[in-house]
Amino acid sequence: MEFIEVAEKRTSVRSFTDEPVPADKLKEMVRIAATAPCIGGKETWKFKAVTNKAVMKKMADVVKTKYKEVLPGNDERITENTKRAVEMFSSLFEKAPAVIAVLAEPYTAIVDQVLSETAYNHDELNKMRNYPDIQTIGAAIQNLLLAAVNLGYGACWLTGPMVAKEELSKLINVENPYKLFAFVAVGKSDKETVPRTKTPIDNIFEIIQ
Ligand SMILES: Cc1cc2nc3c(=O)[nH]c(=O)nc-3n(C[C@H](O)[C@H](O)[C@H](O)COP(=O)(O)O)c2cc1C
Repeated sequence: MEFIEVAEKRTSVRSFTDEPVPADKLKEMVRIAATAPCIGGKETWKFKAVTNKAVMKKMADVVKTKYKEVLPGNDERITENTKRAVEMFSSLFEKAPAVIAVLAEPYTAIVDQVLSETAYNHDELNKMRNYPDIQTIGAAIQNLLLAAVNLGYGACWLTGPMVAKEELSKLINVENPYKLFAFVAVGKSDKETVPRTKTPIDNIFEIIQ
């Protein structure tokens, strides 16, 4: 598929057919994800694809339980509809044929080598530099989504489940120094997909000359 076609076709897919995603296709999506730019040239990412339904159910269960703790039952501003929507948007990966967990280890920038001579530590500098660790993961995830489309699949980037990242990390054995950042649900869409209407280009772009 042409790049422009892939980019324009991509849309978040949240419901899937039962057709499994073969391991070689998952591997190819991750290979393309890992061609993304990365802070300091450090490939900080790692990916774990889960296709085991029992494990996926456990993962969804810990997310649902966490949201029950996070969203208080006695706050009238939080309607049952809101709760249902939060649960759906955060646990939909349970019904996908595969979910790819995106992990990253901390990066070391050149400036970290002289940190003891500066007033700032790594975390402060990471914040001052607008979180290059998270931006790196974002670049890889976008590549992954486009690779999925190119291979005939649909996908959805998910950070909703991350409220339960500690519990999820245990379930999928995320080991130090890696941390869990996001999930990507992957599969064949069970309906025709229609990309969202985009904001006109002139509303979001200017040239300063
Ligand atoms: C950082 C990030 C986190 C997201 N987390 C979720 C999520 O937890 N659940 C969900 O259903 N969609 C999630 N999405 C998908 C967005 O809702 C979606 O991209 C947006 O509504 C635009 O629709 P489109 O992807 O079809 O263009 C996330 C997207 C991004 C970029």
